[in-house]
Amino acid sequence: MRILSGVQSSGRLHLGNYYGAIRQFVELQDEGEALYFIADLHSLTTVRDGKLRQELTREAALAFLALGLDPKRAILFRQSDVHQVTELYWILGTVVPQSNLERAHSYKDKIDQGLSPDFGLFAYPVLMAADILLYGSDLVPVGKDQIQHVEFARDWATKFNVTYVKGYDPQDPDGKEKGHAPGVLKLPAVRVQEATQTVPGLDGRKMSKSYGNAIDLFGDEKEIRKRIMSIKTDSTPVEAPKPVENNALYDLLKLMAPSSEWPAIDASWRQGGQGYGHYKKQLADLFFTTFGPARQKRAELEKDPGEMERVLMDGARRAREVAAPVMDAVRRAAGL
Ligand code: ADP
Ligand code: TRP
Repeated sequence: MRILSGVQSSGRLHLGNYYGAIRQFVELQDEGEALYFIADLHSLTTVRDGKLRQELTREAALAFLALGLDPKRAILFRQSDVHQVTELYWILGTVVPQSNLERAHSYKDKIDQGLSPDFGLFAYPVLMAADILLYGSDLVPVGKDQIQHVEFARDWATKFNVTYVKGYDPQDPDGKEKGHAPGVLKLPAVRVQEATQTVPGLDGRKMSKSYGNAIDLFGDEKEIRKRIMSIKTDSTPVEAPKPVENNALYDLLKLMAPSSEWPAIDASWRQGGQGYGHYKKQLADLFFTTFGPARQKRAELEKDPGEMERVLMDGARRAREVAAPVMDAVRRAAGL
């Protein structure tokens, strides 16, 4: 089984990225051939400073390795190091209905957030589909907000196969029945981590770097403690039981507490007798217990930038090997 996913290098990584995405990536490296990349081409749509892009890309790569990705097993690379992806992006774009792109949530969200619509933003899902299809991915682990993009990748792979593969039957994509041919582009499946679909931020909205409500994984310790202490809470008195609905602090505690500690925390919360400050401190301690080792590993990796670069170049080489036969088949099918 081939597993593929990417993260955009458009900001520092936060708790939402970890529980919504990276944790799954790390777990999945044991289940198949995993390819993970830093989507620096995608980040062109929002980050307009080249030097900053390089820093953010490096930051994401460091985070992956620090959080447990093993570059000997999984393939870790920069999206822009595999040039075939932009070729497939164009070819695929010629079978993408414009109406699909017009109803893409991510595009609409970004316009609502005040980004001015440009072609790159509009075409974003096509590049993402090319990422997925180029490597013949079977499984794409992502956060909930990315499900539509993976569905588009399936639809457009089908469209390409129907257009260019003789004997392809969308009801039989692997061409198992007599007289049918398998598709050139494989249809990927999506995987969403159900329990932690949306990690709340400091203000209770979805944690996101664009809302300024994030807790960075590798930020300064003092700053992280300060931010955790600033989580928005209501005015429930110290002695009263605390509400469990729509309470970001409760949700974050539940997310971070080891299963052995959670029942006691939950019971105390529901019983009352402790103020929110107590739980915030508990959360901060849980944060540093959980991410302490990764923070330390990151600091060590940072001392050797050459090694980081070697990992990424080796990853790109292996990724190109995976991509080559798919790209050849696409070109042949399309008569290029
Ligand atoms: P941001 O919203 O901060 O810009 P990204 O869009 O770069 O984050 O998300 C990278 C990955 O992390 C995606 O797979 C996304 O679904 C996941 N993710 C981001 N924020 C959260 C969150 N608050 N809860 C769960 N998953 C998240
Ligand atoms: N769009 C994804 C995000 O913002 C990142 C991404 C780019 C991706 N290409 C991908 C994720 C391919 C999975 C597969 O999170």
